[in-house]
Amino acid sequence: MANAASQKKIGPVEKVILKNKLEEISEHWRPRVVGELNGQEVKVVKFRGEFPWHHHENEDEMFMGLRGTFRLEFRDKSVEIGEGEFLIVPRGVEHRPVAEEEVEVMLFEPANTKNTGNIDDPEFTAVK
Ligand code: NI
Repeated sequence: MANAASQKKIGPVEKVILKNKLEEISEHWRPRVVGELNGQEVKVVKFRGEFPWHHHENEDEMFMGLRGTFRLEFRDKSVEIGEGEFLIVPRGVEHRPVAEEEVEVMLFEPANTKNTGNIDDPEFTAVK
C-alpha cells in the first residue's frame, strides 16, 4: 500500500556534518531537522536559558548532549546531561530543559512533534 514514506524521493547517501549544521543556527530553542528516518526526525538545536514546562501526549523525546552541559528538569528530579550522554523523556512526563550556558543538543523524535508539547508559547515554538 502506498504511503507518504514509500513515495518519498530517495536522495543521495551522504553523511551529515553536525558542526556545519550547528554553525548555521544562531537562535536558541529553534530545532533544525538534519535527518529523517522511519517517520522520525533527527534535529539539532541550541539551548540557553529555561524552556517552559510541558509534556508530549503521544511522543517520547530523546535529548543528547553534543557540546556543553545542561539539565533536564522533571517535577521530582533534575538530570544533568553532558556531551555524549542522552536521556529519553517518556510521553506524558512533564519536563523542561535548562541551560546556564549555551549548549548544543541533538533531538530524536517522531516527525511533527511540537517542541512545546501541550503548551502554546510563540516565543519558543519551532518554525518549520
Ligand atoms: Ni519536550
